[in-house]
Amino acid sequence: MTIIERDIVIIGAGASGLTAATALQKAGHTVAVLEARDRVGGRLWTDDIEGAMLEIGGQWVSPDQDALKDTIAELGLETFARYRDGESVYVNAAGERTRFEGEIFPVSPDTEREIVRLIEKLDGLVAETDPDRPWTHPQAKELDEISFSAWLEQETTDQEARDNIGMFIAGAMLTKPAHAFSTLQALLMAASAGSFSNLVDADFILDERVVGGLQQVPILLAERLGDDVFLGQAVRALRWNADGVVAVTDQLEVHARRVIVAVPPVLYNRISFEPPLPRRQHQLHQHLSMGFVIKVHAVYETPFWREDGLSGTAFSPYELVHEAYDNTNFGDTRGTFVGFVSDEAADEVFTLTAEERKQRILTSLSHYFGEKALTPVVYYESDWGTEEWTRGAYAASFDLGGLARYGADLRTPVGPISFSCSDLAGKGYQHVDGAIRMGRDTAALVAAGL
Ligand code: FDA
Repeated sequence: MTIIERDIVIIGAGASGLTAATALQKAGHTVAVLEARDRVGGRLWTDDIEGAMLEIGGQWVSPDQDALKDTIAELGLETFARYRDGESVYVNAAGERTRFEGEIFPVSPDTEREIVRLIEKLDGLVAETDPDRPWTHPQAKELDEISFSAWLEQETTDQEARDNIGMFIAGAMLTKPAHAFSTLQALLMAASAGSFSNLVDADFILDERVVGGLQQVPILLAERLGDDVFLGQAVRALRWNADGVVAVTDQLEVHARRVIVAVPPVLYNRISFEPPLPRRQHQLHQHLSMGFVIKVHAVYETPFWREDGLSGTAFSPYELVHEAYDNTNFGDTRGTFVGFVSDEAADEVFTLTAEERKQRILTSLSHYFGEKALTPVVYYESDWGTEEWTRGAYAASFDLGGLARYGADLRTPVGPISFSCSDLAGKGYQHVDGAIRMGRDTAALVAAGL
């Protein structure tokens, strides 16, 4: 066992942990970052799959995400806009495919009115919701006791309007069925992006990507930290008292004055806290769980849909792949689609063989883009459910009633222990921007306490 000493030990080399470590080191403190995996980045992972560069984890940057945008600029990385020229595609409950332009799907005038009314109503509720303190909303308890699907049923009898509004938060964001999270949780998701309108605007929320991949952010941060980042070091135990901590891996013991636990909350119980965390944390951590989505990548010899006047953007709450986008890499002559299969639909296709699942997913893509979508040259499914050190995607959210009941203690430190990750963020919640914000804020809090 090697023993090292630092001012602060950080558990987890994702965007949040590395941001915190960077800020603390800049402020003159010594740090050690312990990472379980043999790579940095956590849910950011850019890899070469059969000759195609794929963003296996997070990739998009939206205009309001200034913490992420500042970091990208500081690191000297370049961004490029998502391809969006041409018409989008919508498939309705009857399986009919329609091309359209603009934000509102091509539905009947009555359904369109309902969709617009619901968006306005949600924008109003979101405006009353502080993303950093959603539990202070005047109706927080009430809104946290009703599932988003039940709230939508109360609001409208129009099934297609409900299905579409539900999809934006459920399949597309929290990646849980709309009956499994509360309306307050839905408001937090939208408030964290500025408004519900922002969430339904693909051109806003999925605006830009980083040339060469978003994992460069954690890779470059880690490079600057140099020998202070230790890979393959899963923290098994954390001994703590008022004076400091000892983080224990299979090979290392890091003695420090403070610790930042920068891992998703579903993994806190992989660490043996000695003494145990207080009852409040034991309870609240059990009410947070990961969503689940398969991110599907299909690479073709050419972006054939562009010749047909299509942007590559497609939506349908009735399709296995509920949303798809042109995800062609910067300067690439090949064309790439990215599509998403969420929550219960993902569970279902994981009961199939890999080949059956691939065929089902490509068939769904062909409903939007035609037969050519059936024959990609590279096909890959990002399956974060099997990743031991993540266990789902994109991030964690509370069960019904959990946010109002426990939210106020989400980020409360326990003695020398602070918590930091995108799952605990207000603004930028579930996104890389939130991971970075949390990293900065937690570092400032820890430094102030030293
Ligand atoms: P993260 O999980 O990245 O880091 C935690 C680290 O802790 C990991 O490296 C893990 O290995 C390590 N760890 C865990 N337990 C440990 C232990 N006991 N000891 C040591 N280390 C331990 N966001 C966005 O802004 N735009 C997007 O387009 C997307 N899209 C997207 C797609 C997919 C498929 C995923 C999975 C996620 C996204 N996201 C996203 C979300 C975004 O990627 C995510 O919110 C942040 O990267 C999370 O960063 P954190 O540092 O908070 O956690």
